[in-house]
Amino acid sequence: MEIQSVGPNEFLSIDGPASIRIIDGKLYVLGVEYGPGNSFTVMRGRRIIAKSLSESKIDVVLGPEGKIEKIDGTNEVIDAWDNALSTIQLRNSIIAVLGAMDVGKTTVTTILVNKGVKEGLKVGVIDGDPGQNDVGPPTTVSASVATNFITHLTQLRNLRSIFVKTTSIEYVWDYVLNAISKLVNELKYNYNVDTIVINTDGWVSEPDAVKFKLEMIRRANISHAIVIRRGDEVNELLKELTNAIKNTIILPSPPNARIRDRDDRKIRREMGYSKYLMPSRELSISLREKPIVNLPLFNGLRYDSYITKLIQRSLNISIHYVEQWGGVAVAIGNVKEFQVKNLGDVSIAILPINWERGLLVALEDKNNYLLSLGVLQKIYYNTGKAVISIPKSFNNEDLVDHIRLGMIRVNDNYEEVEKTLYINKIESLLSSQNILRR
Ligand SMILES: Nc1ncnc2c1ncn2[C@@H]1O[C@H](COP(=O)(O)OP(=O)(O)OP(=O)(O)O)[C@@H](O)[C@H]1O
Ligand SMILES: [Mg+2]
Repeated sequence: MEIQSVGPNEFLSIDGPASIRIIDGKLYVLGVEYGPGNSFTVMRGRRIIAKSLSESKIDVVLGPEGKIEKIDGTNEVIDAWDNALSTIQLRNSIIAVLGAMDVGKTTVTTILVNKGVKEGLKVGVIDGDPGQNDVGPPTTVSASVATNFITHLTQLRNLRSIFVKTTSIEYVWDYVLNAISKLVNELKYNYNVDTIVINTDGWVSEPDAVKFKLEMIRRANISHAIVIRRGDEVNELLKELTNAIKNTIILPSPPNARIRDRDDRKIRREMGYSKYLMPSRELSISLREKPIVNLPLFNGLRYDSYITKLIQRSLNISIHYVEQWGGVAVAIGNVKEFQVKNLGDVSIAILPINWERGLLVALEDKNNYLLSLGVLQKIYYNTGKAVISIPKSFNNEDLVDHIRLGMIRVNDNYEEVEKTLYINKIESLLSSQNILRR
């Protein structure tokens, strides 16, 4: 613990973990003015810039790796951000925060949340970044309602999550768009929020990313786009935005942001899975009663051993199980990798034995909201049961309507070991037969 004095218009750079209490004076932090007696925290791995608005005295407690220092504020973006964000009429708006990785999207989202709270609004928040989700677990888009000041989105209580199967939007973007617009409606009509702020992913530069963002604006009925610009990463997006939306606000990115590399991000996600799933227990579930929506095993036509042998002979692959839906069949066989073979009019998707082990799955309610993430351990083809690791505390089994397969395989330590893109291939084969419900 340490008492520090800060003069008016001086800037502090605070690296978490840190806890600050104002003894005297006034500090501006993330859209909020903290006065005597108020306190706020900075989480581990994050950096927050504070500006003293008067002669101030603060009480600082730093955790390991925590750091606080006075910095030259000349290049700081605090004032520019505050001025620009203050022009937005928050009530009845839907605001999307856009920009590349590490430019400050989560920080700007936090500022907008605080500004709304300060006005006494009920602020809906959607974290639309399945890779680094701060409201819900990785692989989801998640929603919350804020009624208090926050310094980080993880302080919000997760109210609704939608599982989007993976953390890489480019493979599931249509599904992510549906999920975000669904959460917008949920917040508007079931939680009666006054305004909604959407934090987005950092995929902005590629043509498909631009398309994705424009579709988001259209489908989620977004009224304001806030674009954080660093270099020329968002040039294409900005060009397109001028036609797509009336209110675009461009913000500079902070000069000294902490950059996280791919490994940092992966480790953070893995901590996200283990924090969510541990301690865990095993759930045995009948797939006949609670089907896998994107691979509805045991609901099709199961081949008997005679036909299975015939197929085995024509494919020259040892096959353990085959099930057919119209022109598509799924077989479990002695293959190294997923493959599709055609036999007559039927496309057979062949999955390796143990293909299911470690796949991230979602237990969902009848409205496709996430009840719990899980890790698929084993499917028993003779009984039609699956064993899934779920959080020990999960007690909503009654509400489980179905299971959805994800596209990430984790090992026993919840490390991501494979992206199983073939789940998409199976889904599109089955959709072509109109047998998947949405
Ligand atoms: N004004 C600032 N000056 C310095 N660092 C900042 C500032 N604002 C935020 N940061 C830090 O920069 C990092 C990136 O900010 P933030 O997480 O808001 O960006 P992001 O665009 O959401 O990143 P991601 O792509 O990981 O989602 C964080 O560690 C944050 O604490
Ligand atoms: Mg972020």
